Amino acid sequence: MSMLFNSVITDFDLHSGLSQAKASIRRRLSDMRGMFADQTAFEEELRTDDRLVYEYYDMGVPHTEKDVAYGTSIVYPGKVGAEYHMTKGHFHTVLDTTEVYFCLRGHGYLMMENPEGDVEARELKPGLALYVPKRYAHRSINVSATEPLITFFAFPGHAGHDHGTIETKGFRKVIAEKHGAAEIVDNPRWST
Ligand code: NI
Repeated sequence: MSMLFNSVITDFDLHSGLSQAKASIRRRLSDMRGMFADQTAFEEELRTDDRLVYEYYDMGVPHTEKDVAYGTSIVYPGKVGAEYHMTKGHFHTVLDTTEVYFCLRGHGYLMMENPEGDVEARELKPGLALYVPKRYAHRSINVSATEPLITFFAFPGHAGHDHGTIETKGFRKVIAEKHGAAEIVDNPRWST
């Protein structure tokens, strides 16, 4: 009897989001230069605390449209100035591909925007699944002061990641703390 596929089991801890079977890709504050709105606060924090901001997994699934890439993403609590810790965010290189995020732990937002400038920020809480439409860049933002934001994601294997346009321009909106609460505000550094 021939095998049709090789099944794979991977552990992802529901509390930490981490896998013991696989090494994560880690992003520290020093990897995030230019991404936070308050650059003075960024440089000040970096001097004393090059902390881990987030980590995620690349499971090594083949980059074809018949495969599904998946893994967890963990954004640790913290702020740079008033802006919450977040992932760099990306468009998919194949722009009209989608993604699903399922929140396992914490409290945050997925910030989304398309090249035409339509912006959507959706709240993430444990048990909520979010479908990111095709053509939308996406970034996870952790607004909890104490808990990591843990999501499980899945997207087509051939989608690819385009960080470049987001790294140079940023998102139109950012999420910052105002009077003790998370608020969606214009990115003061965004430019066309
Ligand atoms: Ni993506």
